[in-house]
Amino acid sequence: MRKKIVAGNWKMNMTFDEGQKLTSEIVNMYKDENVKDVIAILNPPFPHIFPVKKLIGDVEGISIGAQNCSDKEAGAYTGEVSAKILASFGVEYVIIGHSERREYFNEDNDLLAIKVKEALANGLKPIFCCGESLDIRTAGTHEPNVKFQLTQSLFDLSPEDFSKIVIAYEPIWAIGTGKTASADEAQEMHLALRRHISSKYGKDIAANTSILYGGSCNPKNAQEIFSKPDVDGGLIGGASLKSRDFMDIIKSF
Ligand code: G3H
Repeated sequence: MRKKIVAGNWKMNMTFDEGQKLTSEIVNMYKDENVKDVIAILNPPFPHIFPVKKLIGDVEGISIGAQNCSDKEAGAYTGEVSAKILASFGVEYVIIGHSERREYFNEDNDLLAIKVKEALANGLKPIFCCGESLDIRTAGTHEPNVKFQLTQSLFDLSPEDFSKIVIAYEPIWAIGTGKTASADEAQEMHLALRRHISSKYGKDIAANTSILYGGSCNPKNAQEIFSKPDVDGGLIGGASLKSRDFMDIIKSF
């Protein structure tokens, strides 16, 4: 059975104090409200990782992730953070290929393939992001476009390695815009991606791959989106910065 996951991507937000407060609130609500069967992943900016992880402690069901990792193993790469360093701090997941990394930092499918391998080699589970621009959606070529992102960055992996990947489908036109994909649009793409995975890795691996939706997901729309059979949770930006909203999304299954 594939996992239900709600991952919060804090992006470049939260001071130390704000991050501590947000994490404490989420941890307490998660425990008090008896959440079951939904993994919550907090993906703060790098300096928060260690203190946030400490606050999470041994609460089962909450994990820590990073928002990026280097494609390099180690060495003189000022400002970079390797998968190995992240793993040594107890990080479990890493977001790779977010559209903001693709757009503002010129990360292409080939570079992302290297990052994915680097993450896996160090025991991290990649949350691999894919999604189309508004132009591509308007042209009606979104399915082949998004499938191509998977093919180029992931389909060199062994079946064993692919099984550790979480996919996040994030239509770029829905990110931070308040304009979400409809639940049917999300389902359509998630099903297409699952079939694409099945064509390469077979039915079992495809059925066990968690595919998350991201893009203006909030407590009001999460329930409808998560009710779709191929939507296994969400990658949440803005709404992950408010503990109540994030928890309500977690409880939307
Ligand atoms: O990583 C999260 C996504 O980019 C979604 O962001 O929920 O603010 O639209 P958003």
